[in-house]
Amino acid sequence: MKQVFGVMGDPIEHSLSPAMHNAAFRELGMDCEYHAFRVRQKNLREAILGAQAMGFGGLNITVPHKKKALEFTNPDTLARRIGAVNTISFNEGIRGHNTDGLGAEMALWEAGVGIKSSNVLLIGAGGAARAIAFHFAEKGACVTITNRTPEKAEALAEDVGCRHAGLENLKGLLQDSDILINATSMGMHPHIDATIASRDIMHPDLAVFDIVYNPLQTKLLHQAELAGAKPIGGVAMLVHQGAEAFRIWTGQEPPVEVMRKAVLEGLD
Ligand code: ATR
Repeated sequence: MKQVFGVMGDPIEHSLSPAMHNAAFRELGMDCEYHAFRVRQKNLREAILGAQAMGFGGLNITVPHKKKALEFTNPDTLARRIGAVNTISFNEGIRGHNTDGLGAEMALWEAGVGIKSSNVLLIGAGGAARAIAFHFAEKGACVTITNRTPEKAEALAEDVGCRHAGLENLKGLLQDSDILINATSMGMHPHIDATIASRDIMHPDLAVFDIVYNPLQTKLLHQAELAGAKPIGGVAMLVHQGAEAFRIWTGQEPPVEVMRKAVLEGLD
């Protein structure tokens, strides 16, 4: 019988996950279907339990439910530390995972950038930054967190056990960094002229990773290109967090390029 997978969020209509996962299922000839479900916060518990009861193969959880979903799952160590779940598997009860940080690591890896022992300047202290910070610190990166609201950077750095710094000395911070990550929504459509850093404070040995994927070429990435730095766009993180979820649910090797193609077509 066909197995059903899905993503729960609110709003959800613009999610690229159905296109990405359905393309993967088709590619591997699996009798599975992935759908997007708009779920209100007050119904999240029932929705997750309902999916389990109906024999769903797995779930993704997206904005604004990632934190809340933790309460209704048995989270693995990383998801518990992050305090948020983006993937649920039903193989052993209701297990919560968080694949966002691994997605970011893989995005860098496929661009030839390793994170172990690298100096990573992470801008942002929201959900995405949190997932990246915990995962990267665990993988041996030397993470410094900075944020528009410094108290949030300080609180996150304390949770992770890494450094934090003020945004006012971005130039100095970048000089000491191998990798810059924008984990804020700056530069996202429709504010496409916004950037957290400009070319004059970047150096050619820097990798600049922007989690924003709409537009594909953000102003930050353009500035990185002009500076001779290595620009890495957010689509890769979206694809790899999904690929890792696929691996968790199915135990199969995800067809990453097929998934990427589906996402890029969806963004057109
Ligand atoms: P997400 O879950 O996607 O990370 P979030 O939790 O709302 O979203 O976090 C958004 C992050 O982007 C925060 O770090 C936010 O900074 P504040 O903590 O100061 O709010 C950051 N952010 C959003 N818009 C920004 C802007 N225009 N300039 C700088 N930082 C911005």
